[in-house]
Amino acid sequence: MPVHEIRHPLIRHKLGLMRKAELSTKNFREMSQEIASLLTYEASKDLPLEHDTIEGWCGPVDVEKIAGKKVTVVPILRAGIGMLEGVLNLIPGAKVSAVGIARNEETLEAQPYLERLVGQLEQRLALIVDPMLATGGSMVATIDLLKKAGCRNVRALVLVAAPEGIAAVEEHHPDVHIYTASIDSHLDANGYIVPGLGDAGDRIFGTR
Ligand code: URA
Repeated sequence: MPVHEIRHPLIRHKLGLMRKAELSTKNFREMSQEIASLLTYEASKDLPLEHDTIEGWCGPVDVEKIAGKKVTVVPILRAGIGMLEGVLNLIPGAKVSAVGIARNEETLEAQPYLERLVGQLEQRLALIVDPMLATGGSMVATIDLLKKAGCRNVRALVLVAAPEGIAAVEEHHPDVHIYTASIDSHLDANGYIVPGLGDAGDRIFGTR
């Protein structure tokens, strides 16, 4: 099953702090980025390497570097912005493809309202970032549009995942690996993850 719940002590500790309702916006924001960095470390473990020969202090040295086109990070607006810097801290050369998804109030389907994708997606790994994988509607719609644009290698980084969201991604895109700090219990009647983090966008932007 391509779901990776990263049970590293640093992640468990930071996520535990984030669950506190009274945590400040500043701390919530910082921990979102820190966990995003730790998830990035895991999600990039198998990036292909190539050899290079560089001029070192004592002459030519054989080194390794990441092969191929640069990664693209895909924040799903708005809350995904809260994880972007955390990914870029580890992969500073990554290109950013912003995606906005809104629910169509008539059909209730998740539909893109913004797609600012970088070029040559067929040669890039896309790392989608969104703190909460709840119903999975936005994630599935984002993967749909990335694949339509030619991307063949997509991974999703989420702070917290609900089983319902995981199932939706697995059903529509079984090739997409999900990296998460926690698989939580369920969604409540309003679509919030339990125990979850509350409204992650509001907590990151201080709008609650
Ligand atoms: N979006 C959030 O911000 N929180 C949830 O629990 C579900 C969706």
